[in-house]
Amino acid sequence: MPIPKAELHLHIEGTLEPELAFELAHRNGVDLPYADPEQLRAAYAFSDLQSFLDLYYQLMDVLRTEEDFTELAEAYLARAARDGVRHAEIFFDPQAHTARGVELDAVVRGLDRALSRSFERHGVSTKLIMCFLRDLPEASALATFDACRPYFGDVIAGIGLDSAEVGHRPAKFATVYRRAKEAGLRLVAHAGEEGGPDYVREALDLLGVERIDHGIRALEDPELVKRLAEERIPLTVCPFSNVRLRCVATLADHPLVAMLDAGLVATVNSDDPAYFGGYVEENFAGVRRALGLTDDQLRLLARNSFEASFLEDDERREALIAEVDAYRFP
Ligand code: HPA
Ligand code: ZN
Repeated sequence: MPIPKAELHLHIEGTLEPELAFELAHRNGVDLPYADPEQLRAAYAFSDLQSFLDLYYQLMDVLRTEEDFTELAEAYLARAARDGVRHAEIFFDPQAHTARGVELDAVVRGLDRALSRSFERHGVSTKLIMCFLRDLPEASALATFDACRPYFGDVIAGIGLDSAEVGHRPAKFATVYRRAKEAGLRLVAHAGEEGGPDYVREALDLLGVERIDHGIRALEDPELVKRLAEERIPLTVCPFSNVRLRCVATLADHPLVAMLDAGLVATVNSDDPAYFGGYVEENFAGVRRALGLTDDQLRLLARNSFEASFLEDDERREALIAEVDAYRFP
């Protein structure tokens, strides 16, 4: 069995495999501009974040009904369990669905059906995090935030910020982050993926985030690195994503080891595994191979994932960390 871990950076829409996309397209009468899953897969050659987002938003059009969202999340959770994932904090993009006429209720209830039975079925505890699309105005985020209020707490645990980063600074979302904090939600944001270290600083100072998603460009700013390490602000790093979106040239060039050496609470995650060539255990195996990570470094990454998680049950967290410490690689 793979090492126990938490997955903290996973867009559920990014787990839509070509085969399921075709099945849902057929069921929902949606025309896909590809002949078959193989042809679709061949289109997964990205030059940057935007080129990926264009396909990602296009393909999610096959998700229409509550059942579609349940099926999508169920497939991910079953797969995650086989990868040793024991806890998953899952992003979704409500605006990407409501904008095309899918009811918010269908999205949230559909996802929650799979998430709420996940511990029983798969041994994977879960949290759901709603992300705002940063290339839309804050007014849209605020309207979405209000529409999601009935789900705060039990169903929706936190907010995040994703989509096209450069030119859409964290500062734009200060009001919605303040309201989310007042509502008792947990706060994360993508920053320092394509945007510079100043985006990471802004997310910390103006949004008050507890975790940074990606954050690899923070390394360009030694003072910021020192602060992130001292304050133990976790970074949810996604190695395959960084290579596929050309934020990093090759896996062997990935700064993950530099991050660990700098004392950062770095974790390894899959981001959009259906698009980037692998799920979380494949990311672990990939960096192990390409960067020559030691067993101790792999255990540290897994331990960090539980420390960085929003698990409230400290006993479970400690038990999972003890499992990591006792884990012996085959
Ligand atoms: N970055 C920004 N937005 C996203 C991503 C990402 O890696 N994945 C899905 N939406
Ligand atoms: Zn992401």
